[in-house]
Amino acid sequence: MFFSGGTLLLWRSAAIVHAIEERASSVAAVPADATGNGTADGIAAAASGTAGEPTRLGIIGGTGPAGAALATRLADIGCEVTLGSRSKYRSMEVVDNILDRWPERDLRIHPGANSLAAQEPTVVIATPWDAAAITARDVAEHLRGKVVATMSNALARVDDEFVPLIPPRGSVAASVQATLPESLVAAALQHVPATELGNLDEPVHGDILICSDHREATWHIAEIVDRMPGARALDCGNLSNATAIEAFTAVLMQLNTRYRTRVALRLVGLDHVPISVLGGGPSNAEASPAVAETVTG
Ligand SMILES: NC(=O)c1ccc[n+]([C@@H]2O[C@H](COP(=O)([O-])OP(=O)(O)OC[C@H]3O[C@@H](n4cnc5c(N)ncnc54)[C@H](OP(=O)(O)O)[C@@H]3O)[C@@H](O)[C@H]2O)c1
Repeated sequence: MFFSGGTLLLWRSAAIVHAIEERASSVAAVPADATGNGTADGIAAAASGTAGEPTRLGIIGGTGPAGAALATRLADIGCEVTLGSRSKYRSMEVVDNILDRWPERDLRIHPGANSLAAQEPTVVIATPWDAAAITARDVAEHLRGKVVATMSNALARVDDEFVPLIPPRGSVAASVQATLPESLVAAALQHVPATELGNLDEPVHGDILICSDHREATWHIAEIVDRMPGARALDCGNLSNATAIEAFTAVLMQLNTRYRTRVALRLVGLDHVPISVLGGGPSNAEASPAVAETVTG
């Protein structure tokens, strides 16, 4: 509900599969389960889709504006999505609304309980911040060895301002990682407003900041994000940076209120260095000073 911008990066699937396989072997690995989740092969397969199959994702808390918009965008880039909810009927209603809105698109979105969404190879948690870790714990058995992205922000409304809260362990993402020690948690997509994310007539616009203590989780989410027209995924390091990323959402929302606009985050100064997390993508960043700017749209 707040911003916009523009860039398209496409990575070749083979490149990411190769890089994930190569690098996952050198990174502290999460224990693998019997299905191969948590292994380089398992994550690489989840990244690219197995044998030409679409990438499959589940969204926990998918019936809210953020989750529904993400499901819509993911389906539009060719992913197959299970939109989860505590109520399968609510999930069915939201999926029907999405398909009704975009009748001419071939969107593969299926309704289901959160526990069904959690069984997909890659999972996104899109609940309110104070429900994220608890909800993750409820489906933890399905998340072992998988990449789990969180997009929740801990914010509170005080008068006419949003202010950041500091959750236990510093961020929502860190709380979820502590709840899911055998999963590969990444913080991502917190700054992308649902309205823009779910509007398939427009590109997403802006940089998507991703951080995780598991590099292969960052690469996996980045590969998916970079398929979204207008979005540029950036590797922002360890999960400790989720504290700043989540809290910064309050700043962006304040700018929207102050200037009656929607802002998008676009970092400049990245035009002369490889900006994809695999180092293989071209950059079309327009300016060079290494400062952060917001782009009104
Ligand atoms: N809205 C945006 O533009 C946007 C953009 C980027 C990030 N975010 C972040 O994404 C998160 C979700 O945002 P949202 O606007 O979609 O939130 P929301 O509508 O308040 O919640 C999303 C879904 O979470 C489920 N839920 C609500 N309370 C729950 C609880 N106590 N336990 C388990 N599940 C619960 C509900 O689904 P069911 O009732 O169907 O289970 C609800 O539809 C927030 O943390 C927000 O900061 C939002």
